[in-house]
Amino acid sequence: MTTASVTRHIERLIVPRLEQLPVISYYAKIRGWPYVLSWIHRITGIMLVLYMLIHVYTLSFLRAPEAYDAKMRLLRLPVFVMLEWALAIPVIFHALNGGRLLLYEIFGVRKDEAMIRWVFGLSSLYVLLLGLMMVCGSQRVTPVFYWLTTLLAACILGYVIYTRIWKTDITLGWKLQRISGGFLLMMIPAHMLFMHLNLSMGHEAGVVIARMQNIFIKIVDITLVISVLFHGGYGLLSIAKDYVFSKWLKTLFKAAVCAVMVFFGWIGTKLVILI
Ligand code: HEM
Repeated sequence: MTTASVTRHIERLIVPRLEQLPVISYYAKIRGWPYVLSWIHRITGIMLVLYMLIHVYTLSFLRAPEAYDAKMRLLRLPVFVMLEWALAIPVIFHALNGGRLLLYEIFGVRKDEAMIRWVFGLSSLYVLLLGLMMVCGSQRVTPVFYWLTTLLAACILGYVIYTRIWKTDITLGWKLQRISGGFLLMMIPAHMLFMHLNLSMGHEAGVVIARMQNIFIKIVDITLVISVLFHGGYGLLSIAKDYVFSKWLKTLFKAAVCAVMVFFGWIGTKLVILI
C-alpha cells in the first residue's frame, strides 16, 4: 500500500465526517475547502500563539526544578495526557497546511485538491503516530544527533524558500514569515515527537536541564524561540490588518504584540542561556 493510498483512505474517513459538521459543511459548500482551510489556519495559528506563551511561562519553572516537577506531575493525569495528545491536531494541521500554502505561493504548486487531501491524511497519520509513541513511551535517541539532522533539514528548507523569495518586491516581514514557516515546518512537529519519545524527555526537570546544558541544544532552542515568536507575532499582525481599520488602533495593537513577543523572547532566551 503506497503513502498516497493510505492518505486517500484516511481522507475518505475524515472528510465525510467534516462535511457533516454544521458550520464547516455550510462554508465548504458555498465557499469551498480552501476558504474553510484558511479560517482553520488562522484559528490554529492563534491557538498556537497562546499555547506558546503558556509553554514559555511553564518552562521558566525549570529554574526551580521541584516546582517544574510538581507541575509535570499534574500533567500526568489522564485528562491532561489526552489534552497534550489533542494539541498535536492544531499543531500538525497548521504546519502541513502552512506547507501547502508555501508550495502554493512560492513554488507555484496549484494542485489544491490533492494537497488538501495530503494535509488531512498526513495530519491524521502524525496524530496517530504521536499517540502510539505516548502509549509506548520507551524510545531513546541522542538529542544532539536528533536535533542536528532536524536543524539541517529545517535550515535547508528555510534556505530554499529564501532563494525563491528574497529578491521579490514583497515586504521584509512577509519574506521572513515565509522563511520562518519553512524552518518551523521541520522543527515544530519534530519538537513534539521528541518530547514524547519517552515520558522523561519533557516531563522531568533533571532530564530537560541536563539536555539544555549542551551548547548545541542551546543554539537549537534559541533559534526555535526566536523564529516561533517572530512567526506568530507577524501572523497576529497580518490577521489584525483584515479587521482593524483605525490607524491608531493598528499602531496600538502592533506595539502590544511586539511588547509581548519581546518579553517572552527575553524570558525564553534568558532561561536557555542561564540554565
Ligand atoms: C509548524 C510550522 C509552521 C508553518 C509551516 C507555518 C506556516 C504559516 C504560513 C505559510 C502562514 C501564512 C498564511 C497566510 O497568510 O495565508 C502562517 C500564518 C500564521 N502562523 Fe504559522 N506556521 C507554522 C507554525 C506556527 C506557529 C508555531 C505559530 C504560533 C506561534 C504560528 C502562528 C501563525 C499565525 C498567527 C499566522 C497568521 C494566520 C493567517 O494569517 O492565516 N505558526 N503560518
